Amino acid sequence: MGKIVSATYDENMNYIKDGRIVPPVITVKHLVKNFGSHEVLRDLSFMVRPGEVVCVIGSSGSGKSTLLRCINLLETPTKGLIKYKDETKFSDEAGGSSWPVNKYRTKVGMVFQSFNLFNNMTVLQNCMVGTRKVLKKDKKTSYDLAMKYLTKVGMAPYINAKPAQLSGGQKQRVAIARALTMEPEVLLFDEPTSALDPEMVGEVLHVMEELAQEGLTMVIVTHEMAFARDVSTRTIFMDGGLIAEDDIPERLFTQPKNPRTREFLSRFLNSGQIQAAG
Ligand SMILES: Nc1ncnc2c1ncn2[C@@H]1O[C@H](COP(=O)(O)OP(=O)(O)OP(=O)(O)O)[C@@H](O)[C@H]1O
Ligand SMILES: [Mg+2]
Repeated sequence: MGKIVSATYDENMNYIKDGRIVPPVITVKHLVKNFGSHEVLRDLSFMVRPGEVVCVIGSSGSGKSTLLRCINLLETPTKGLIKYKDETKFSDEAGGSSWPVNKYRTKVGMVFQSFNLFNNMTVLQNCMVGTRKVLKKDKKTSYDLAMKYLTKVGMAPYINAKPAQLSGGQKQRVAIARALTMEPEVLLFDEPTSALDPEMVGEVLHVMEELAQEGLTMVIVTHEMAFARDVSTRTIFMDGGLIAEDDIPERLFTQPKNPRTREFLSRFLNSGQIQAAG
């Protein structure tokens, strides 16, 4: 696989589109998250601009899931600022916005490792419930959106199946379709392929690759290094609750600046998942 999305960054890692810096869709500033006395995120700042595909890599326990969960407000940050476009979603100073959190989550969707489908509902019902209940779409619109995105992920033939009748890869593709029916501005993925049997990883990564090519803004926590290298426009390496390195994958995977990044990547080099710089 070669590089699939071309992107331009300035020297401060600002994403440039049509010759200018695009305003961010997500802004995270000085984010701190403590669980009891354990400081899991330690003053973390970054932005996501429309069209970026940001892969987040790092060791187990470095805080990757906590970061995504804070962005989506599944966790309440301890300190810092989270903004969606110009709207403050969390601030320890000014007080959060009045937006209901479920409306925010239609704009900033999330796909989980464990799919989180409703097991008592069919594939079609899973993909209609959000647009019906949260976006208040009529039945026809909701059905059309479900079919559009189930077709995109190759799951339209399974509309009447229940999740238990599907393979892991199929369930994850349904979960992605369900997230897409809300037509979010950003989709967050927390290790979407980690719960899958190896032979099903490819079909899910392929769907995500197509979404990247179509310009969907994504933040993807992943252990799939070749995918991160080829599909992300920018890769973030997290270490001990901090962003240790934030760079274009062409540099981060071949000439990491931080010794911790080098050490982390060498484990994947040794396992053959990625090749050494040529
Ligand atoms: N709800 C919680 N209560 C207490 N500690 C938590 C909670 N959630 C996460 N932690 C701790 O925060 C740290 C970071 O966890 P997190 O799940 O964000 O890491 P991660 O980078 O996603 O790891 P992995 O690659 O294993 O998924 C870990 O030490 C974890 O034990
Ligand atoms: Mg995690």
